[in-house]
Amino acid sequence: MPPTASGLPIARTVAELRAKVAAWRREGLSVGLVPTMGALHEGHLSLVRLARTRTDRVVASLFVNPTQFAPHEDFDAYPRDEAGDAALLASAGCHLLFAPAVAEMYPPGASTTVIVSGVADPLDGLARPSHFPGVATIVTKLLNQCGPDVAVFGEKDFQQLQVIKRLAADLDLPVEILGAPIVRAEDGLALSSRNAYLSADERRVAPRLYEVLTEAFARLRAGEAVETVEATAVAALLAAGFDRVDYVEARTPADLDRLGPGPVTGPIRVLAAAHLGRTRLIDNVGD
Ligand code: PAF
Repeated sequence: MPPTASGLPIARTVAELRAKVAAWRREGLSVGLVPTMGALHEGHLSLVRLARTRTDRVVASLFVNPTQFAPHEDFDAYPRDEAGDAALLASAGCHLLFAPAVAEMYPPGASTTVIVSGVADPLDGLARPSHFPGVATIVTKLLNQCGPDVAVFGEKDFQQLQVIKRLAADLDLPVEILGAPIVRAEDGLALSSRNAYLSADERRVAPRLYEVLTEAFARLRAGEAVETVEATAVAALLAAGFDRVDYVEARTPADLDRLGPGPVTGPIRVLAAAHLGRTRLIDNVGD
């Protein structure tokens, strides 16, 4: 397995990945997996560091998964910098990079899709109907290919995390799915590979998303009705300069069930997706 310039070994095939993990297993070592689509930032590195606290060896995967992008979305434009990503992963203490080609993950004839219902249905499930089937399929494959003890995912993609927890439980996958807290810029904007698309003006508006969600959460905790809080938050985002709001919704954290309509007493997660120019931002706040 040739190392990258950063010295991090890189596996290009499932067979190479499995051989490396099997060698670690023979030494009695535990294994963590951090799935990514690359264009890494401090948020991804926090996942690697968390995995390192829980397992002896950490694999990061880098695969821009075509099946989770709709035809009109940004698959072609998605930022790609494998060498830069490898250097960052090495600095965070990752032990192996798994960076397969599309044909390795979806060989000719591949025709199985993993569909999670319930938790995958609302929010991004409505706004991006083909997204979660693509995510659930690739994550199931990565978990089967690597066979980790622990797999770590960021809470910025909060619904994705719940979808993955659900599929791991439903398919009896012997892995612990761990969520890691959102890493934010100083002004509150959640770190995301897609922030690179923002113009300077849009970047100034973007932190309003977190502020509006934080305000919404505080108002729900103060006993305001869910529908009023959600409508006020949408209006605040549009007034701040967002072009379109897919949703701002308060839901139960684990199952993403609807809350309200009246005051809420239990745990709350407020989730939003909104467009600034060509960039779609998502974020969430809760307890
Ligand atoms: O969150 C992501 O980067 C992707 O959805 C994931 C989990 C790596 C699957 O492609």
